Amino acid sequence: MKVLDAEFVQGFMRMATDGWDQGWHERNGGNLSYRIKEEEIASVEEELSPGEWLEIGTSVPELAGEYFLVTGSGKYMRNISIKPEDCICIIELDEKGENYRICWGLVNGGKPTSELPSHLMNHEVKKKVTKGRCRVIYHAHPANTIALTFVLPLEDEVFTRELWEMATECPVVFPEGIGVVPWMVPGGRDIAVATSELMKKYNVAIWAHHGMFCAGEDFDLTFGLMHTVEKSAEILVKVLSMGQGKRQTIRPDEFRHLAVDFHVTLPEKFLYEKQ
Ligand code: 13P
Ligand code: ZN
Repeated sequence: MKVLDAEFVQGFMRMATDGWDQGWHERNGGNLSYRIKEEEIASVEEELSPGEWLEIGTSVPELAGEYFLVTGSGKYMRNISIKPEDCICIIELDEKGENYRICWGLVNGGKPTSELPSHLMNHEVKKKVTKGRCRVIYHAHPANTIALTFVLPLEDEVFTRELWEMATECPVVFPEGIGVVPWMVPGGRDIAVATSELMKKYNVAIWAHHGMFCAGEDFDLTFGLMHTVEKSAEILVKVLSMGQGKRQTIRPDEFRHLAVDFHVTLPEKFLYEKQ
């Protein structure tokens, strides 16, 4: 099968376009990666031609030998569906999880996203904690979520609670909560370590003054998660902008009732009493 005909590649391209349509990907902002299944990579084998080994910039031994579909560094999400072979690539990791090689795509040169260390370290953590079910890591620059990182304390508890309060579906969609990484230089190992540490317990990590990372089992769930968090952030921005504060909201005991009816566990650390 041709790479571009494969369902996982079609799903990847659709997600890139959806993110662009949401306004989350100015210029080359944001990036996407998918951990390819064995049968999927086997189905496109005829088109793979490995290049030279290059350093990842971190070590991900639990992902040794795996293949990923990733966006290219400096590539625009809005161009992916129009010229995918120029914008995205399939990479293979070596047997130590320290090097990668491009096997398909980026036909006009280039390399995988500068956030490859964060993507792969998140994949490594998520593969472990979800017993292999998590396959998608998505980074975007959604404006409302970023705006909140200038006015809320950069604490997991506060971001989670404020976003849960903005839409009843939120504690059902992300019951485990949301993590926040303070401002750090992007593109390297340090921010990858900080983010993947949060991914041990959450599926969402917000990068202060930068953007968001989401993890999920498939493209729908991962896109839907980013969409839900950002929609909630938009409501919070509107509420804060109205200037009078919240007159009423969902209270801790109401979240506890919701948790029972919707069969989710809401950690008590998010249900603190406010002053
Ligand atoms: P890349 O173009 O290297 O993927 O970088 C975009 C980005 O959002 C960095 O955080
Ligand atoms: Zn970014």
